[in-house]
Amino acid sequence: MIPMATAQPQAILAFDQLARRYDDLFTRSLIGRAQRNAVWRVIAQAFRSGDHILELNCGTGEDALFLAGKGVSVVACDASEQMIEYAQQRLRTEAPTTSVKFAQLPIEQIAEIRTESAFDGVFSNFSGLNCVADLSQTAENLATLIPPGAPLIICLSTRFCISEIIWFLIHGRPHEAFRRCSGHAAAKVGEFVVDVYYPTLRQLQKSFSPAFVMRSCVGIGITVPPSYVEPWIRKFPNLLHVMDTIDKALSACPGFRVIGDHMLISFERVQV
Ligand SMILES: C[S@@+](CC[C@H](N)C(=O)[O-])C[C@H]1O[C@@H](n2cnc3c(N)ncnc32)[C@H](O)[C@@H]1O
Repeated sequence: MIPMATAQPQAILAFDQLARRYDDLFTRSLIGRAQRNAVWRVIAQAFRSGDHILELNCGTGEDALFLAGKGVSVVACDASEQMIEYAQQRLRTEAPTTSVKFAQLPIEQIAEIRTESAFDGVFSNFSGLNCVADLSQTAENLATLIPPGAPLIICLSTRFCISEIIWFLIHGRPHEAFRRCSGHAAAKVGEFVVDVYYPTLRQLQKSFSPAFVMRSCVGIGITVPPSYVEPWIRKFPNLLHVMDTIDKALSACPGFRVIGDHMLISFERVQV
């Protein structure tokens, strides 16, 4: 019997341990806020009031609550029980009357999801998909969940992050500077080691075809650096503002959109 794919146990343990601190460390950080606002500008256009969407690897629910505030109904999943528990707690206190349902479900088992009505789109933010070994299988599963014409919007860590390379070279840590470049790295998340995959844009397009065709791609965090630079950037908030402005200008340029911290890709489900 072929064993059923599931999330990496060490990733679940790592994110379980991180759940209660995640919003302080990332969601409410200056860098996290700047990068997420860039994602929100895209998803606010793609998903409309009345839509029913599926969110993968939702973490503490920041994006689900944002979309719900715009009248979108969201089923949001994550492999980490602690992330889901915390997201549910946030929902009860921050947006109790909105239409959001949180469920513990790994991306690898997303085909098992049960929903009352068909989804109008799928969304995944900030690198949950970088923890998945077989994205072709994910694409196949997602194709069964949304109809032709529906958007699939995914945000992944890039393979070549120019600000990361510069940052670690300046700090004399060449191994970390180029850690993403082979396409696979064992990343330390808290006390756990997680396998992280860094597909190129071309590889992603291939993995998601033929059921999904790329419609656009924008860079997220091109000059705005990765979140571990937060303690340094806090000393220079004006510089972050300048970086954010530069990112807005460069985000759709083909040369730049794949060398930031993340890339945000909009696919469309097509008839095959
Ligand atoms: C960097 S966090 C991003 C969370 C959230 N999307 C955000 O924007 O803040 C990555 C999330 O992916 C989840 N994750 C990792 N591997 C997963 C998998 N195989 N299936 C579902 N979720 C997974 C983690 O539990 C974590 O919540």
